Amino acid sequence: MCRLEYNIILCGFMGCGKTTVGKILSRILKAPYVDMDKYIEDDCGMKVSEIFAKYGEGHFRELEREAAKKLSENQGMIISAGGGTLTFKENVEALSSSGRIVFIDTPVEDIIYRLRGDTTRPLLQCENREQVIKDLHKKRTPLYKAAATVYVDGSLPPKVVAKSIASIILRGKYNNKGC
Ligand code: S3P
Repeated sequence: MCRLEYNIILCGFMGCGKTTVGKILSRILKAPYVDMDKYIEDDCGMKVSEIFAKYGEGHFRELEREAAKKLSENQGMIISAGGGTLTFKENVEALSSSGRIVFIDTPVEDIIYRLRGDTTRPLLQCENREQVIKDLHKKRTPLYKAAATVYVDGSLPPKVVAKSIASIILRGKYNNKGC
């Protein structure tokens, strides 16, 4: 079996399906899976929500930048980025140099529905959650599109999304030897 020779980085808005799709894709391609938020949490022994509450968003973004750099040193992994990761130029540069960035493009209505009961995302713990999602989604979508070289439809079931990413990757071949 041929090993994936570069990383596949999944990007998109909170709730777009990065984690679920990433785990399925990792099984299909037999490549290790890393969730960037989990990686940061394990590294500093705190939940993302605790980091935001205790040290603020700026500090979280620094940890995220370090994580993006560190993870870019590896190869052959499926990486789910955080919803804000690929909105920063430095992170795009680091992660795109290590592999292919895939944008899971999920309609804002689906995102609002999926995140209706969420208590874990610090940016959404506010009265006007729906408006915050709409505004951020509008602002970030062009940034995700600019960062990615592959776009997939995130309104489809996660299995279908993962299979479609796998088929795009396999069509492009794992590496330049064609396997
Ligand atoms: C964030 C998204 C979260 C997490 C943090 C900030 C964002 O990740 O990194 O709460 O700025 O959109 P998910 O997209 O995995 O929820």
